[in-house]
Amino acid sequence: MSNYHIKHLEEYFQVYRKSVRDPESFWEEIAEEHFLWRKKWDKVLEWDFTKPEVRWFGGAQLNITENCLDRHLTTRGNKTAILFEPNDPSEPAQHISYSELHERVGRMANVLKSKGIGKGDRVCIYLPMIPELAVSVLACARIGAIHSVVFAGFSATALATRINDCDCKMLITSDGSYRGAKTIDLKGIVDKALEECPNLETVLVAKRIESDIHMEPGRDHWLQPLLDSAPTDCPAEVMEAEDPLFILYTSGSTGKPKGMVHSCAGYMIYAAYTFKNIFQYREKDVYWCTADIGWITGHSYIVYGPLANGATTLMFEGVPSFPDFGRFWEVVEKHKVNQFYTAPTAIRALAKENLEYVEKYDLSSLKVLGTVGEPINEEAWHWYNNNVGHKQSPIVDTWWQTETGGIMISPIPYVTPTTPTYATLPFIGIQPALMDENGVEIKGNQVSGRLCIKFPWPSMARTIWGNHARYRDTYFSAYENKYFTGDGAMRDAVGYYRITGRVDDVIIVSGHNLGTAPIEDSINEHPAVAESAIVGFPHDVKGNALYGFVILKETGETRNRENLYKEINQQITEQIGPIAKLDRILFVSGLPKTRSGKIMRRILRKIASGETGNLGDISTLLNPEVVQEIIEKAG
Ligand code: PRX
Repeated sequence: MSNYHIKHLEEYFQVYRKSVRDPESFWEEIAEEHFLWRKKWDKVLEWDFTKPEVRWFGGAQLNITENCLDRHLTTRGNKTAILFEPNDPSEPAQHISYSELHERVGRMANVLKSKGIGKGDRVCIYLPMIPELAVSVLACARIGAIHSVVFAGFSATALATRINDCDCKMLITSDGSYRGAKTIDLKGIVDKALEECPNLETVLVAKRIESDIHMEPGRDHWLQPLLDSAPTDCPAEVMEAEDPLFILYTSGSTGKPKGMVHSCAGYMIYAAYTFKNIFQYREKDVYWCTADIGWITGHSYIVYGPLANGATTLMFEGVPSFPDFGRFWEVVEKHKVNQFYTAPTAIRALAKENLEYVEKYDLSSLKVLGTVGEPINEEAWHWYNNNVGHKQSPIVDTWWQTETGGIMISPIPYVTPTTPTYATLPFIGIQPALMDENGVEIKGNQVSGRLCIKFPWPSMARTIWGNHARYRDTYFSAYENKYFTGDGAMRDAVGYYRITGRVDDVIIVSGHNLGTAPIEDSINEHPAVAESAIVGFPHDVKGNALYGFVILKETGETRNRENLYKEINQQITEQIGPIAKLDRILFVSGLPKTRSGKIMRRILRKIASGETGNLGDISTLLNPEVVQEIIEKAG
């Protein structure tokens, strides 16, 4: 049926209309024809956004790994499933076929079982971008264990918080990782984190950098010997459609990170269907997404989406700047990559370098270019289009979120005409709405508002682990009967969407979501600090950078400011990770506050961006005088 693979604009409109007119029969057809089930569903969809409760394919049974691996064995057994490109270009790439991946996942799943892991147990995965990461993810799914991948750039404190929040029994890590010319002592970070994790029983350690590390007797085990003695065959656990598949943490504007829970069936269908269409994947293509599997982009569009389609998915361990700024393009040429999916921050960083780094390589294999994670500015879009795509490869600017599980608004390449900085049209089945401040939907075109989704889609997160009330309050309470995204957007004259950025206290730095509250908490823990507020300000590579306004305690006033700045950043690095470091800091005597004591970040944002000409009415502030002081200090 053509509904699975959309090839021209008329077809898009036709399929879209069908998907919103009768979502149940639409998704039922897709599920029926393109996936492998142990048992079919009783009901395609049940939902109630007031609770909120959403169930897709209730009563169905399946295992996602049978869809990603087993069903390809007869037709694609020798096809490369994962193409691993190491950090060091002189180390050979690895082509892991579907048969081999199936075996490796089977072995790993048996190792997990032998260590007492079973259906519903949580397993934390803290690994660099090496094949063991994808294998571990799939091995968990094979036996119904819930994986919680933590990006290996996170600090010990951040790792410990995530392990404890969902009570992981096991952690899978490595002796260390490569990052360009550097190595990182991952196991050292793990050891520190585990001092705070009394319930974690077992650590499996993959060897990557051959470093001399501490192995805790009884707790830590080298992975390879266990794999070597494990059988390759592991029957797939039969999962209910709505059983959790994984937890993935994302920052909220307040409080601790939110463990978004994704379910088996709906997630699989939507990740697979979006992958097929948004990258127009064809059987012999080599597809490369440069994200880390530690983020949702890696879950949906390195692992599950591509493998469910029997694709060849490239996994890259390195960084775009090593051994030089041509690395991405060298890899594209070397593996004849057809679809390339990256973040605007990477494009901006590479666009600053000499064009020779791009021009040196043959990029003619490219057919589709993608971006994700933050708005792409016009300049970066044109640079990407001109120098990477040579105006031949459509750019898909894909808007979505950890919570949405899959791409929500995006062009379909060779189908939807693109416009720089526009994510264009909703994907099949997605019903966006723009809302005004009074909670009324803004209809028509050439309008702006807060972006909501008014109807369930299969891959939406079902809850926040251990805190359903927070899930409801964060996403379903701002607007009645709608999922609120936290983003602002405009819809232009032809109905194209352009995402304008967060409307809450989440700041996107280099494509990473950072909540202001946890960073402020971390700053405030410094003994010299009384209070702080952080805001984002425009940065030409990172998109946004962090600006901290800090009030010192009396005891801190005498301290050297440069040292304090370094110490505060050190503290943030340890507690959250280096991505949350402040680019600028200003020591002030007060912060602008409303009479109810709320910090007026709007004013701080303007000062941080140098837009002090138009601060709006500040006379209602509790302390208007402090604004002038801050402006003068900010210079
Ligand atoms: O603000 C939007 C921005 O990233 C947020 C979601 O971040 P995260 O959950 O980490 O997932 C990122 C990868 C899917 C969104 O609320 N965002 C994501 N893609 C775009 C974007 N903003 C503008 N344009 C995009 N294409």
